[in-house]
Amino acid sequence: MQVQTISLRYVRKMELKGRHLLSLKDFTREEIQLILDTSSDLKRQRYRGELGTSLLGRSVGMVFERPSTRTRVSFEVAVNELSGDSLFLSSQELQLSRGEPIADTARVLSRYLHGIVIRATNHEHVVELAEYSDVPVINALTPMYHPCQALADLLTIREKLHELEGLKLVYIGDGNNVCQSLMIGGATMGLEVTVATPPGYEPNPEVTAFARERAEENMAQLELTNDPKAAVEEADVLYTDVFVSMGQDEERKKRLAAFLPDYQINEALVELAAPHSIVMHCLPAHRDEEITDAVIEGPHSVVWDQAENRLHTEKAILALLL
Ligand code: CP
Ligand code: NVA
Repeated sequence: MQVQTISLRYVRKMELKGRHLLSLKDFTREEIQLILDTSSDLKRQRYRGELGTSLLGRSVGMVFERPSTRTRVSFEVAVNELSGDSLFLSSQELQLSRGEPIADTARVLSRYLHGIVIRATNHEHVVELAEYSDVPVINALTPMYHPCQALADLLTIREKLHELEGLKLVYIGDGNNVCQSLMIGGATMGLEVTVATPPGYEPNPEVTAFARERAEENMAQLELTNDPKAAVEEADVLYTDVFVSMGQDEERKKRLAAFLPDYQINEALVELAAPHSIVMHCLPAHRDEEITDAVIEGPHSVVWDQAENRLHTEKAILALLL
């Protein structure tokens, strides 16, 4: 039995080699499980002071078209701790900024690098990069998806509440990239996902349809609502993200008017959830907009452990895909 379990894990590991991570749509429940298990193993190893060698002699390029604290630093540290080299490539310093086609950039970079991590202003650019790249491309956030964040979120929920299946995860706020990745990740892993947004800020209908199908295949549930108070009833996990994402600054006034005060996670809303509920935020947070200072600093908040888990899941992604 044990031999069979080990060999299955080995086969799944081999199946992940060389794959791109553009969204969690491309990953099965077993594959996500493997990424989470590998993250936990690497986390334990780091706590014991052991570093890895799985990226020895490998170089990973980090192309960032937008600012980043967690994603950039966690990926760079992950590469270093796995004995690889990372190169930070600001898009402004690449010939991309002067019009070199994405397809040409992808073919050239894949002659030098063993993997490309990219945060981009346009999801289709990442898809095109992956199409022409011979090495794995990892989506470090686009306006559509933030799959690396969702993996760290699932790991955090599993650590704090000891399981994933059947838990009620309520996302309140904007139906954005973070929300869309959580919907797919949650539906794949058997959670009961409820998304509460103001009218007009629902997640993308195609992503919603995909997540619904995933939910059906995995005995999960997906609900969309405009009623945050009803949504949080019995919630095990409350999750929010900024109301104004990168690139949406011009809509700030209109967005704040649509989201406040009803869609803010504050103490009154947390009171309506299960007493053991955890509160999550991918960060950076805008205190007293989507979440109050009292909640993010309060006893239900797990945001710092959640941020730490970016490092452990980034390591697992690199070790498994590269
Ligand atoms: N959560 C997240 O991706 O943070 P950064 O924008 O700092 O990378
Ligand atoms: N939704 C946010 C996430 C930041 C990590 C954004 O895209 O700006």
